[in-house]
Amino acid sequence: MTNILGFETSCDDTAVAVVDHNARVLSSVVYSQVKEYSQFLGVVPEIGSRAHIEQIHKTTQIALKKANLLPDQIDMVAATFGPGLIGPLMVGAQFAKGFAAGLNIPIVPVHHIFGHIMVGFGEPGFPETPFLALIASGGHSAIYHCRENYQISVVGQTIDDAAGEAFDKVGRALGLGYPAGKKIDQLARVGDPQKFKFPVAMRHQHHFNFSFSGLKTSALNAITQNNPLTKQGVSDICASVEHAIVEALVTKVLRAAQRYNVDSVVVGGGVAANTLVRQKLAQQLGEVNKSVFLPAKDMCTDNAVMIARAALATKKSERLVDYGFDVVPNLCVSKMLQVPMKQQKVAIKQKQ
Ligand code: KG4
Ligand code: ZN
Repeated sequence: MTNILGFETSCDDTAVAVVDHNARVLSSVVYSQVKEYSQFLGVVPEIGSRAHIEQIHKTTQIALKKANLLPDQIDMVAATFGPGLIGPLMVGAQFAKGFAAGLNIPIVPVHHIFGHIMVGFGEPGFPETPFLALIASGGHSAIYHCRENYQISVVGQTIDDAAGEAFDKVGRALGLGYPAGKKIDQLARVGDPQKFKFPVAMRHQHHFNFSFSGLKTSALNAITQNNPLTKQGVSDICASVEHAIVEALVTKVLRAAQRYNVDSVVVGGGVAANTLVRQKLAQQLGEVNKSVFLPAKDMCTDNAVMIARAALATKKSERLVDYGFDVVPNLCVSKMLQVPMKQQKVAIKQKQ
């Protein structure tokens, strides 16, 4: 029996979760810092670090209580070590290391994007490798090729803004607060997606990269030109922006799935909670006999289940390390598994 305590603090959520050896979720607690940022309409790293310090102990206690476990019933700890904001990453990783060291149990550093990819690990329908993963969030938008033993490479990525960032910036101009993706999703349901023609950049180019900054500029211009917007006008902008972003993501994913000859696509990151992304991917991949794994909506945004499950998935390849790892704010994809592997040579702690 292995119980894994996962920590995710790379940005603006203090998240702690417990999963068991079958990847079953025993608890998942997310303290969102959205309230702290309401007046700034974006993340402020220093405020974030302080909020993580204030919340992490309490959040851990709640996660353990909900899982009905005492600290010494935890067998392994997992924590995000990058990419992300340095202060928030340090708070989570140091707390996790302290927890693990105090109990003399192993700790696994987990790449944040790898966590998003692995959030459905252990659930029915989560595919075996090889598969493609589309991870689209506020900070990242890329398609990954996940091969045997979770060897992962980038197939295509945004060359400027992330998809979630485009949603958030348009939402900010519409006065929808931060983050705006969920609100735009709701308003788009009553808007006309054809009302405004926003560009779908690089749609016909044969690579798998995205670009969202032209779309963002075009939407910001439309907001200014049509000022003041009616309630219906706001919904129409939301639906048209959503349509263009989803069109870009789905077109490239479909083409990449055929080019890489995979049967399955996994999606993750906050934008994977979007209603139209989910509908279009399921429908269009289904039409070419490929499956899509859609995590529950609350598992698309940052959480610690994804970190604990990613650690569990790779535990089999003996990636347990000591407590000496550092956080890496600009951690790149090629380091998804390599950093922990290198440190594997250092003393491996085992529960006594
Ligand atoms: O994965 P996540 O929680 O954090 C990062 O790692 O960035 O993603 C947050 C992003 C935000 O940009 C937010 O606006 C977007 O995901 N988002 C959505 C939806 N829910 C969250 N975008 C579109 N539709 C949604 N339903
Ligand atoms: Zn994320």
